[in-house]
Amino acid sequence: MAKKKIASRRSVSAAHIRAQESRHLMNTYKRLRLVFTHGRGCRLYDSQGREYLDFLGGIAVNALGHAHPRLVRVIRREAGRAIHLSNLFHNAYQGPLATKLANWSGLHRVFFTNSGTEAIDGALKLARAYAHAKRNGGGASGQKKTRILALENSFHGRTFGALSITYPQKYRQPFEPLVPGVDFVRFNDVADLEAKFDNSVCAFVLETIQGEGGIFAVNEPFWNRARALASRHDAALIADEIQCGLGRTGRYFAYKKFDSLPDIAVVAKPLAAGLPLGAIIANEKFASAFAPGTHGTTFGGGPLICATALEFLTTVEEEDLLARVRERGSELRAGLEKLAAHFDFIREVRGEGLIIGIDLTCDGAPIIQEALRRGLIINCTHDHILRFLPPFIISKRDITEFLKRFEAVLWAVSKKMPTRKSTKASKLYISIQQQSGLAAASRQL
Ligand SMILES: Cc1ncc(COP(=O)(O)O)c(C=O)c1O
Repeated sequence: MAKKKIASRRSVSAAHIRAQESRHLMNTYKRLRLVFTHGRGCRLYDSQGREYLDFLGGIAVNALGHAHPRLVRVIRREAGRAIHLSNLFHNAYQGPLATKLANWSGLHRVFFTNSGTEAIDGALKLARAYAHAKRNGGGASGQKKTRILALENSFHGRTFGALSITYPQKYRQPFEPLVPGVDFVRFNDVADLEAKFDNSVCAFVLETIQGEGGIFAVNEPFWNRARALASRHDAALIADEIQCGLGRTGRYFAYKKFDSLPDIAVVAKPLAAGLPLGAIIANEKFASAFAPGTHGTTFGGGPLICATALEFLTTVEEEDLLARVRERGSELRAGLEKLAAHFDFIREVRGEGLIIGIDLTCDGAPIIQEALRRGLIINCTHDHILRFLPPFIISKRDITEFLKRFEAVLWAVSKKMPTRKSTKASKLYISIQQQSGLAAASRQL
């Protein structure tokens, strides 16, 4: 039955699908020409029946790969019971899922959303609501406590709140004016953070590891200072763990390598392993700022989706996937570093667990194209940073196969591609590294 269905989907003409989309979809995505029909584990299959190793995982979503039997079983079971009930009623899965998220995060209370960007907007609302409730909208000096700090090079989503704390102009400019009262802090720059953090701030939002920005991790001194300043000014420290959280680093949350917790953590992408679900997780202090009616959603936290998320988190625990992420991540990183020694257009390999980036001195598009030709799915951000986000279930054999094929990709591309030493890529890299205080330690440009 399943085989028959897959075969009929394969027979759909890719050209017909593209033509129909170009007539009737809004023009928001620069899509590759491929049409994928189905996946199994870490492999995807296109309309021609070609197989690909998936090292993108739906952009950090498909943490259990494709068609994982545990997820398929739960989705089938719940689809036959109740897909949606509404948040006017209790359902069997929100409580257990919230309990697990609280345990994993070290925080206390959860609000479920449909996406990452909504969770970010909700977290900003929570921080503002707390500030209003505590200070009646005014700081100690009578000044409004509504300012929000975020980091340069950040990406937090596309709705107005999340967009307002997203740094790159290309995302913001077409939609201005955005939410006022946002200031950006230089990445990992403690002095800049101290200069901008005062009693008018209600929230400081950071990605523990910047994903879209190119795999840049917040360092410990910066995190510690952010924690201390947020506590001193009674502002929320908000960790956006939408891309780097829920196991991707080999820890439940990326911030677990630090000694202190954020006030609010935001997750989405892999939470329901492919179904749309996000969550705001807050400590008691901040969570108490929401009361019935202050925030809500129609779809967020439905029974089918929460049951699926619960199955994902349980699978991570029962199958010891965090250890697997750490082991496979080290193998992948070591293999990429070995390759980097042979190609002078690779400037740096960075990241941890299964969130790894390769910084190039050249345009990454030809590498992506060549990788696809050789059956590898990877991604490129900022035009020059290759991003690897494979599923947590990736095997040692898959990593070996990937590295072998990827080496062939790099040799093929290196023959055609002159290295460029002074590019936009170099400028972004230098700027971020200087802010991180790592410039001296990194390779000569
Ligand atoms: C760190 C981070 N925050 C927020 C978002 C927005 O999430 P969503 O696309 O689910 O709205 C993303 C998406 O890429 C992300 O990587």
